Amino acid sequence: MTATLGQLYRPSHDESARQRFVGALKGYANGALEQKLAARYDHDLRPAFERAQGHAPADRVEARPLFEADPLYQLWGSMVYASQGLMWETVGATCERIGPRFEARAAELTGKARGSLLLDPTLVIPKPIVDVEIHRQPGGYFASMRPGDLHAALIYFGTIELYRAAKGLSANAPVGEPGIGRYIAQVVRKRYPDLAPRRILDLGCGPGTETIALQEAFPDAEVHGLDLSAPFVSFAHAWAEERGMALHFRQADAQRTGYPDGHFDLVISHILFHETWHDIAPKIFAEARRILAPGGVFLNADVPYQPARMPIPKQVTNDWQVRNNGEPFWTGFADTDVAAALRGAGFAAERVVADYEPLGAGHYFFFGGRAA
Ligand SMILES: C[S@@+](CC[C@H](N)C(=O)[O-])C[C@H]1O[C@@H](n2cnc3c(N)ncnc32)[C@H](O)[C@@H]1O
Repeated sequence: MTATLGQLYRPSHDESARQRFVGALKGYANGALEQKLAARYDHDLRPAFERAQGHAPADRVEARPLFEADPLYQLWGSMVYASQGLMWETVGATCERIGPRFEARAAELTGKARGSLLLDPTLVIPKPIVDVEIHRQPGGYFASMRPGDLHAALIYFGTIELYRAAKGLSANAPVGEPGIGRYIAQVVRKRYPDLAPRRILDLGCGPGTETIALQEAFPDAEVHGLDLSAPFVSFAHAWAEERGMALHFRQADAQRTGYPDGHFDLVISHILFHETWHDIAPKIFAEARRILAPGGVFLNADVPYQPARMPIPKQVTNDWQVRNNGEPFWTGFADTDVAAALRGAGFAAERVVADYEPLGAGHYFFFGGRAA
C-alpha cells in the first residue's frame, strides 16, 4: 500500500532520540531557566538598579544592560541559541533523508488534484522579509532549488512536529494534526455564531496544515490559502489532496492577493503578522477589507506579547529573540497598535476587535474587524 505524506514523515530511531533531546533542552531553557531568570531579576537585578537609580527599569531598553551583564542570562542565551541550531541540524537530517520519497508522493497526489495550486514565479518577495531566515531556518521560507522542491516547507513542518513531540502531543494524534487551526475555528464560531461563510481565506497559510481545520469546521465553504512561499503552498496543496480535500492554494503577497472585491466571508490568519514586516501590516489590513463581502469577518490569531502585558524579563528575552534568534519582526508587531491600524484600513471602530482568548495556561491575541 502507498504510504501517505503523514506516514512518510517518520524520524528514524536515532533522529527521534536527538529530536527529543533538543525538545527537552528547549523546554528547559524556555521554561525552568527562564523562570530562574525572572526570579534573578526580581531578587537581584531590579533591587540593585532601584538602589542606584531610585526607580525600577521602565522598559526593556532600560533593563537590557542589567541582563546582558548577568551570567545566568548569558547561559540562557547560549542554550536557546545552541538548541535552535541543533534543531535545524537534526530535523534537517530527517528531511534530507525522507525528502525524495515525500516529494514523489506529493507529485503523485497533485497530478490528480481535486483542489488547485497557483504559483507565481514572477512574485517579488517584499523586503526585508526576503532577506531573513526566519527562526534561523537554513535558506529561509523561500529557498527553492528546482520545481517541486518542498524542503523549506518540510523542515518547517518537522520543527512543528519536534515541538509537538516535546509537549507530548504527538503521542495521541497523528503528525500534522491542526490543533491550533481547530482552536481558531472554535473562536470564530464562538465570536460570530451567525457567520456561515461560503468562501474562506487563510492568509499566510504556510504549509497549510492548519488550513485543513477551516474546511473541517465549515465543510460547505470553499477554502483558500495564500502564502509568499512557493514550497509552502505546494506542500499545502499536496497535504490537502492527501486528505481528500479540495482546497485552493495561491502563491501571492497578502498585500495584493489578486482576488476580486468582496470575494470572502471569512479571512483569517495564524501567526502571520509577527512574521511579516510591521510596516506592511496596514496594507494587508486594507487588502483584507477590500476582499471581504458585506458582513464578512477578518480575524487574526497571534502571539500575546504586547509589552503592556509582559513582565520586564519576558520583554528582554523576547527582544533577545529578535536580535539573535531569527524573530526580527516580533517586537515591531507587539509594539503596533493594531486596533488603530485596522480602523485606518477602513474597519468601523465599533466592529474592530483586539483582545485575548484563553489558550492552555495562557492566552492568545485575536484582532480584526467585521465588514458592515
Ligand atoms: C509562522 S508562518 C505561519 C504559517 C501558518 N499560518 C501556520 O499556522 O502554520 C508565517 C507565514 O506567513 C507568510 N507570510 C509572511 N509575510 C507574508 C505576506 N506578506 N504575504 C503572504 N504570506 C506571508 C510566511 O511565508 C509564512 O509561511
